[in-house]
Amino acid sequence: MVLAAIAVGTNLGDRRVHLERALEALRALPRTRIRAVSSWHETEPVGGPPGQGRYLNGAVLVETGLAPRELLDELLAIESAEGRVRVAGRRDGPRTLDLDLLVHGAAVVEEPGLVLPHPRAEERPFVLEPLAEIAPDLRFPRSGLNVLEALARLRASVGGRRGSADGTVALSSPAEARAWCGHARARGARIGFVPTMGALHEGHLELVRRAARENDAAVVSVFVNPLQFDEKSDFERYPRDFAADVALLGPAGCGMAFTGTLAGFFPGELAADGSLPAAKLLDPGTAALGLEGAFRAGHFAGVATIVDRLFEVVTPHVAYFGEKDFQQTLVVRDLSRRRGAPPIVVCPTSREASGLARSSRNERLSPTERAEAAVIFRALSSARAAWRAGERRAAMLSGALRTVLSGSTLRVEYATVRDPEQWTADEPATPLLRAQALVAARLGAVRLIDNLRLDVPDGGVPGDEVGGS
Ligand code: PAJ
Repeated sequence: MVLAAIAVGTNLGDRRVHLERALEALRALPRTRIRAVSSWHETEPVGGPPGQGRYLNGAVLVETGLAPRELLDELLAIESAEGRVRVAGRRDGPRTLDLDLLVHGAAVVEEPGLVLPHPRAEERPFVLEPLAEIAPDLRFPRSGLNVLEALARLRASVGGRRGSADGTVALSSPAEARAWCGHARARGARIGFVPTMGALHEGHLELVRRAARENDAAVVSVFVNPLQFDEKSDFERYPRDFAADVALLGPAGCGMAFTGTLAGFFPGELAADGSLPAAKLLDPGTAALGLEGAFRAGHFAGVATIVDRLFEVVTPHVAYFGEKDFQQTLVVRDLSRRRGAPPIVVCPTSREASGLARSSRNERLSPTERAEAAVIFRALSSARAAWRAGERRAAMLSGALRTVLSGSTLRVEYATVRDPEQWTADEPATPLLRAQALVAARLGAVRLIDNLRLDVPDGGVPGDEVGGS
């Protein structure tokens, strides 16, 4: 018995049906057992006549007692049963089903109609990426490279992989990231994960340094997630520079950073217009009620959906989030509990000297606005002073917030308090045992959020808790 890898592709007709039938047929092959099937990757056609549809590509790993030629004949038979017509001399037209034998054990063959390993396998991301998910260690007998090494070489040659001088591996697809993390885990490494949307600043880097300190490998995702933006202009203006982010991540101790596209995160799951169908969005739970959830329709469903997928790609031992996005930490912790995902560590908010919470959006403030934005922290501090003076009524604490904010040009969306351990959509009416003050306000075109735990001793850091599954 040897291991053989098969690439599967289709860009004609009902592609999912073709793929399902191909799998069925592979399952029925004599002396052959399917070991693993990748996810389906949606890709643009490469070469061939113009106007072709997009492909669904995947890879299948089988264990087989069939000789290379026997297996090839079986694959051709499956293709023709599915309606693929091979036109002599043409290999790049549209196809209902394309099955390519990539590797057959250690076989090196060069015969009419059968070349092994497949001569173009190592040049094609749409072959290597799915294959990396299921067989990162599989070797191409001619080059001697395994699938991950072949991918790395391909990325380097097309400029898609930009590593930093400090040793951060930079990968441009979730499939590669999945394979890298699988590898790291198999080596026994403990993975600490920091999801981000890039435009990295000191606040992000503090999370990364901590993840690197507390684990064997810190993994960082950099993806501006369209699912969580309720304003198109905010999404479009969000800064994006993966290479610059990677350059910051190396010195912070990040082992691997990856980015991707919506199609890469949700292969084969997007609608024809490139969006994720609403039915695929996850329920963000009750922590999403009120405040950010109320002001930004759909925001937390978008966060929960991508974080869940990121956890699936990385399968971290622990994940790090900033208290800066307090309600998000509740949503994520709840999600993690429901889905059996990793424990969540919440890290304190990193602030500029003025008290302004660091944020990628601060870059869009003018120097005057930036100075003015510090009023948010002064308001939060004033509520904390009121708490320390013995005030426990939510309405009075949020009154303290609003008094300070009213002296500024900020347009306040909310300035309120909640019990951080018993989230409620509305402000609690009974005196509080614990309190988190939360503010969202607009300054010019920029929306800022911040929060502060009120019931901590002077100089203490807010909740630095570990929880989750
Ligand atoms: P992003 O805004 O890039 O933030 C990534 C992580 O950094 C979050 O956990 C956030 O709370 C944390 N962070 C941001 N500014 C911080 C600061 N000043 N101090 C401490 N931590 C800070 O939050 C997101 O991205 C996205 O919603 C994401 C979770 C990646 C899902 O898309």
